[in-house]
Amino acid sequence: MSCFQHLIIILFSSLFLHFSQADVGTASHYGPPFLPTECFGEGASQFPSTNMFGSAGEGIWNNGAACGRVYEVRCISAAVPRTCIPGQAVQIKIVDRAQSSVSRPSTDDTSMVLSITAFQVIANVSSPLINIEFQQV
Ligand SMILES: *[C@@H]1O[C@H](CO)[C@@H](O)[C@H](O)[C@H]1NC(C)=O
Repeated sequence: MSCFQHLIIILFSSLFLHFSQADVGTASHYGPPFLPTECFGEGASQFPSTNMFGSAGEGIWNNGAACGRVYEVRCISAAVPRTCIPGQAVQIKIVDRAQSSVSRPSTDDTSMVLSITAFQVIANVSSPLINIEFQQV
């Protein structure tokens, strides 16, 4: 095998490794009331004081195993141009299940739903739906 072929293989492997770390999906947002939650009941002490939290869509809910997990989330695109705030990422803790949250998401059936506080770090909150890249921390 030539040097060039080796190089191509290395390049493709690193691309694959990079993309396999993060998932692509969608996010919406939700506001108060946040209690009770399917993860912690009335337990508000489980909420990060920064208000950087969210609820899990069915794809990551995993029968409740998602509760307490932290995801790093980036906005990659949206229907309206310039919705994403470039270069921003937010880390959110899963505190609820989107399907049963007291306060309803701005859009149903997304990969996850971010608190307004978390959503506005990465996107214009007037958008009900964004495309995201996310990765468990
Ligand atoms: C957010 O989007 C709305 C509606 O498209 C727009 O009017 C507003 O200027 C945007 N806000 C920012 C900070 O870009």
